[in-house]
Amino acid sequence: MGLPQPAFYIFKCEQSSPPGMPKPSCVSPQTQDLFQHLAQTLMQKGIIGTVQPIRSACMNRCNVGPVMLVEPGHVMYTQLDKAKIDRIIEEHIIGGNIVEEYVIDSELWDDAISPADMAAQMGR
Ligand code: FES
Repeated sequence: MGLPQPAFYIFKCEQSSPPGMPKPSCVSPQTQDLFQHLAQTLMQKGIIGTVQPIRSACMNRCNVGPVMLVEPGHVMYTQLDKAKIDRIIEEHIIGGNIVEEYVIDSELWDDAISPADMAAQMGR
């Protein structure tokens, strides 16, 4: 048997705006320990071997940050805090049920355009 691939990747946006930038970002002094909380909770539950947390750059949904993306599934969670992360781990990652009330609005996260369709639109 080969080395098992992870069951989930969790991409946590770790972008912080430089001081004085008006644009919001996912990491501020109030939210800077969320990645650590995510990783520690996965470790405490003994599932970090199959759930891989990844520090990501900006995913262009800064207005509803802090955000994290769960793959597989393209599930984008918004306005996170520690309690929400705990619930997502318990209900989605372990329990298999997406926590719909924390999922991004479809206005901001509609179905993907396939690269083939986009290339065709661009005439390439
Ligand atoms: S800073 Fe996190 S989505 Fe842009």
